[in-house]
Amino acid sequence: MNEKNIMDYETVALDDERDALVIIDQTLLPGRTELISLHTAQEIWDAIYLLKVRGAPAIGVAAAFGIYLLAKQTDTQEYEVFYEAFRKQKEYLNSARPTAVNLSWALNRMEQVCVRSRELPVEQIKEKLRAEAVHMKEEDIQVCKAIGEHGLTLVKPGDGILTHCNAGQLATCKYGTATAPIYLGQERGYRFSVFADETRPLLQGARLTAYELQASGVDVTLICDNMSATVMRNGWINAVFVGCDRVAANGDTANKIGTSVVAAVAKRYHVPVYICAPTSTIDMDTPAGADITIEQRPAHEVTDMWYEKPTAPEGVKVFNPAFDVTDHDLIAGIVTEYGIAREPYTESLREIFRIKESKQAALKTRA
Ligand code: MRU
Repeated sequence: MNEKNIMDYETVALDDERDALVIIDQTLLPGRTELISLHTAQEIWDAIYLLKVRGAPAIGVAAAFGIYLLAKQTDTQEYEVFYEAFRKQKEYLNSARPTAVNLSWALNRMEQVCVRSRELPVEQIKEKLRAEAVHMKEEDIQVCKAIGEHGLTLVKPGDGILTHCNAGQLATCKYGTATAPIYLGQERGYRFSVFADETRPLLQGARLTAYELQASGVDVTLICDNMSATVMRNGWINAVFVGCDRVAANGDTANKIGTSVVAAVAKRYHVPVYICAPTSTIDMDTPAGADITIEQRPAHEVTDMWYEKPTAPEGVKVFNPAFDVTDHDLIAGIVTEYGIAREPYTESLREIFRIKESKQAALKTRA
């Protein structure tokens, strides 16, 4: 049997022939690898809400392909009618998940394409939307790679690294964010030992991170969420690398529920916590963590979703926030594609965006 490696699949892809957004249904992993084709607004919204495609950057790229496909279906030559339909679809897709800023970031970027091209025939606007979505996917790969290069400067061969949730290839278009230094290090013979938190309640660490790292030949050990203190106290962890769904202007970071617990424990054991953050996930319009909307998810994810029998009494009250905020003073550095931001984040993150703008301006001048 010649089973394809999970790393050989594209997390998010555009199928032009079938006018479809193609994703790996991540809810079935690691047991089954199934690609699904999405065509309608409802299918795309459901896939994002149900975490068939998940992870902030992957959600952004999926939304960009999605809105392009929906715009393509709009049958009109009139810009105003086209734009009105686009805005409605955009609002709908944007309502699927509130915390990952990449969703609105990607949709806003697509809307800007419409607005900038309003003098063009609708058919040409559609082509521009396609080009922008394809570009966003390529950009995501480059961004993750750059995060990996910067992240790799923070660790040394043989280090123990702990990660939480899945900020891996399955959460992006390639490399992942938190896993990018791990994959680049693996290519260069660093021999890290990685500890993956299982990440209750949806088990992204067990089902996805442990799976993709193992498939890549990385030395990975799966632990329950309540074991991170033990491995840190044992001296097995030199650094924590995690992803994020929204970084506020002061460095407070929303990521998968449980990240703040890991960060508090890491502080106790003097282990640095690094947030791997594409600039698309940094929201300078959100001043602090308290301003971030935290997604609340249904009770059944906690009580019975992954178990043959329910693990809680029927009807019990459940609190199920999908994300938490790690206070900026628990974070040793925010690793972006343009370098590593350190305290005070209000200034260093602004500097990262200054670097971004000047690099982008230089690229435009050269083009
Ligand atoms: O609910 P999920 O699985 O979408 O949550 C994902 C995370 O919290 C990731 O750490 C984050 O999106 C960064 S992915 C590079």
